[in-house]
Amino acid sequence: GKSANGYSYETLLETANFLLSRTSIRPRIGVICGSGMGSYWKEGSLAESIEDADCVPYEDIPNFPVSTVEGHHGKLVFGKLEGVPVVAMQGRFHYYEGYPLWKCCLPVRVMKLLGVETLIATNAAGGLNPSYKIGDIMIVRDHINMMGFAGNNPLHGPNDERFGPRFPPMNKAYKLEYRKIAKDVAKELNIENIVREGVYTCLGGPNFETVAELNMLKMVGVDAVGMSTVHEVITARHCDMNVFALSLITNECVTSYDDAEANHEEVLDVGRMRQDILKKFVSRLVHRFAKE
Ligand code: 6GU
Repeated sequence: GKSANGYSYETLLETANFLLSRTSIRPRIGVICGSGMGSYWKEGSLAESIEDADCVPYEDIPNFPVSTVEGHHGKLVFGKLEGVPVVAMQGRFHYYEGYPLWKCCLPVRVMKLLGVETLIATNAAGGLNPSYKIGDIMIVRDHINMMGFAGNNPLHGPNDERFGPRFPPMNKAYKLEYRKIAKDVAKELNIENIVREGVYTCLGGPNFETVAELNMLKMVGVDAVGMSTVHEVITARHCDMNVFALSLITNECVTSYDDAEANHEEVLDVGRMRQDILKKFVSRLVHRFAKE
């Protein structure tokens, strides 16, 4: 059955039970691989480096949305990263594809029902902070839910207490301990010079922003802008998952009328350029978070 904001708890339990019957992996950490992390290509991506992998294409999963984006390899990958059992989404569901927000976030609730306690969300984003360079990795300290300001929220509608409370707090959305660990790991990997920490916001897309829009976002303290993650994090925090998120800065946001515009190819190229570093970084984070 469906309720106004999505499939029922029982329906999602069926989905989770189906997945548990397809793999012996029992993940406690879930990873969402975004545009910077191999959602558009296979070779060498984080999802491809998962060992003992059991892959389940989205179209085989009962009640799952089906990705509409050409070139997206939509599948769940169960397996091990540095010996830690994980489930990874290779490709996510974007609002601009036409799904309501609750549907974009349905996999997060399924992860919860699989036993996942920690969500690592990754994305590609435009850098608004003038000190950011292309190829930087931004640890998300906080977000601004712009779509939420207009009343669009994945939790909109009836609340099922089995997932979480009607009015969930968001002041500690991005776990402090994880952010500290990430900075440690950045030092260990000698990438501290490209790792930043900042505020992310999500706009619905699919168009990139106008100059005026980007200047407004800059004014309110946004460091990086993308088209995902915020609603996934809200859904994950609602059901009390621990959250870590990072943005790969794939382009500088155009804040003057003579700058060159952002384009999707550039976003993918920077992802490819950084994929080995991101793979190492996220694998180490998984290893460390599992010990928490
Ligand atoms: Cl400039 N804007 C948004 N919304 N998403 C992006 C981006 C810009 N660059 C990469 N992803």
